Amino acid sequence: MASDVTSPDLELTGDRTPILVWDVPTRVFHWALVFCFMLAYVTSESERWQLWHVTAGYVFGFLLIFRIFWGLIGTRYARFTHFVRGPKAVAAYLRTLLTRHPAHYVGHNPAGAWAIIGILMLGLMTVLTGWASFNDYGDWIGELHEAIVNLLLLVIVVHVVGVVVSSFLHRENLVRAMVNGRKQGHPTDAIRYPQWIIGMLLITGMLFFIWGLLTGHMPWLLP
Ligand code: HEM
Repeated sequence: MASDVTSPDLELTGDRTPILVWDVPTRVFHWALVFCFMLAYVTSESERWQLWHVTAGYVFGFLLIFRIFWGLIGTRYARFTHFVRGPKAVAAYLRTLLTRHPAHYVGHNPAGAWAIIGILMLGLMTVLTGWASFNDYGDWIGELHEAIVNLLLLVIVVHVVGVVVSSFLHRENLVRAMVNGRKQGHPTDAIRYPQWIIGMLLITGMLFFIWGLLTGHMPWLLP
């Protein structure tokens, strides 16, 4: 029988084996998001690279909207109802990090989950304020855009530190898991379908935006 995967999987020595946890769309989303964020960041100060900055911003926004949609109807570990928990669960999880047996979650842990929600919300605010500042809604909106990006960067640093720390604590390479989709768990807790088709549709959607913006086929999206 499947264990209660919304609770920590405490039987660290049980019949745990690599199981499929992250579907293809979640993995494509993650690494494309990282790439877009970095591209938008390094092109932000230059007039010459403005089109790339705007394109990276639109694809970033498209990815975030997809992820919210996937968080409602996606596979088990991708759904918000599965990983977003209240402050009690977060505090209980953080307390176990100080013990010799930190709680292990098959999906996102309760603390990491809030960093993820922060990234999604601040990411959306970044895109909205970026769009508004390119469309001349006033200088203040440009300043707000920069302030939100800096806050987002801070949450990303916390996120990456959290990933590295929990990889060591659980002796499990979480970065590799975000690449091949596999984490330690009971075989009955694996997701059944990797959702390749949705993953391919997501890539097609991104390529469509990149092509449309860079070749001038979507002029209505540009300032
Ligand atoms: C190179 C730096 C990064 C690494 C190594 C990394 C690694 C990871 C890993 C391992 C997870 C899964 C965490 C878990 O097991 O619970 C994750 C999730 C996530 N990361 Fe990152 N991350 C990086 C940068 C970023 C950046 C720059 C962003 C945002 C722009 C980001 C946004 C997210 C989001 C939103 C999730 C949740 C994935 C989902 O459920 O869809 N990450 N990251």
